[in-house]
Amino acid sequence: MIVKTDTINSRLENWLNTHQPDKVVVVTSESSFKLCLPKLSIHKKLDNVVYRLPDGDDAKTIEFCQDFWSVMMRNDANRKSVIIAVGGGAVLDFSGFCASVFMRGLACIYVPTTLLSMVDGSEGGKTGINFYGTKNIIGTFSEPNLVLRNIEFLTTLTKNEIFSGWAEILKHGILEGGEIFKQIQGGIKPFSDEDYWINLIRLNIEFKKSITSADFKEKGQRKLLNLGHTFGHGLEALFFEDPNITHGKAVANGIYWETLLALELGFTNEENLRIVENLIFPLYPKIGWNKFQVEEIGNLLMHDKKNENGWIHFTFSKQIGAAEYNIEVAKQRILHFLDKHAEDVESIEDIL
Ligand code: GLY
Repeated sequence: MIVKTDTINSRLENWLNTHQPDKVVVVTSESSFKLCLPKLSIHKKLDNVVYRLPDGDDAKTIEFCQDFWSVMMRNDANRKSVIIAVGGGAVLDFSGFCASVFMRGLACIYVPTTLLSMVDGSEGGKTGINFYGTKNIIGTFSEPNLVLRNIEFLTTLTKNEIFSGWAEILKHGILEGGEIFKQIQGGIKPFSDEDYWINLIRLNIEFKKSITSADFKEKGQRKLLNLGHTFGHGLEALFFEDPNITHGKAVANGIYWETLLALELGFTNEENLRIVENLIFPLYPKIGWNKFQVEEIGNLLMHDKKNENGWIHFTFSKQIGAAEYNIEVAKQRILHFLDKHAEDVESIEDIL
């Protein structure tokens, strides 16, 4: 459901009045605690427990889960309690996971506060935390009881957060090839154009729902949503120490590099690559690698949980509105691609 500040509170109150939970536990991030929670009336109820997480993926650890569950137990949370997650994707993933396993499942309401979590993380029921250096490796498929997307929270976002959300919207547009694709042609519009954003977010949720409702547990067509993410996660991991390489920039570049790979393997044509480039590069900087990083990025691509026995599984865009998943490419072929497109660097000293 897409709402504004004046309706989000009444929707929350309605749900709480109908379900009468005996305890409300609010989970939020430092940023959402400061910027978004004050706009919600649940904030003013003094008997609600508020659990604050650090911003971003630092929250998605087993240590924070243990700490959170111990707070739940100290506050006598039980099966009639509800968790309200107010934050971006990390808060939703964490809260959804903790709620889905505590006492075998508590009610959970998502209030996504970022563009990325409104169009992606809040839909489709994936929950999870990172473990042993691998993203989302521990998790469940569990849908929230209610999702309230308040578009007025979008004005609290940084440029990087907007670009992260936009990368997923680009992905949906390229896969869908219909109304979303049409709507994204003009680039990122100002958030003051509320009707545009309400419509665009609605289209994105409907598109994602059309895929996840047919394949909730990602046995088949949900893999389409991995477009750009195999390469994107590899780039993100390669540059994990560089705060400028955000998830959005990595995924947008991932879509480009995967489409170039698809072209070289004969899965798509030059025209499709040009359309993809024109959507991405006016907005995002190009992220590449040098020849000293080829082996490392190759290994990082292999680490993805979707890969097996020296083969990397890709989703490729064939043309706008048509993609194919489960395309296996041998690691050796990827290394050749990585080597061919590595930026020229004379010596290792040049990059240090
Ligand atoms: N973000 C991809 C999915 O939910 O499957």
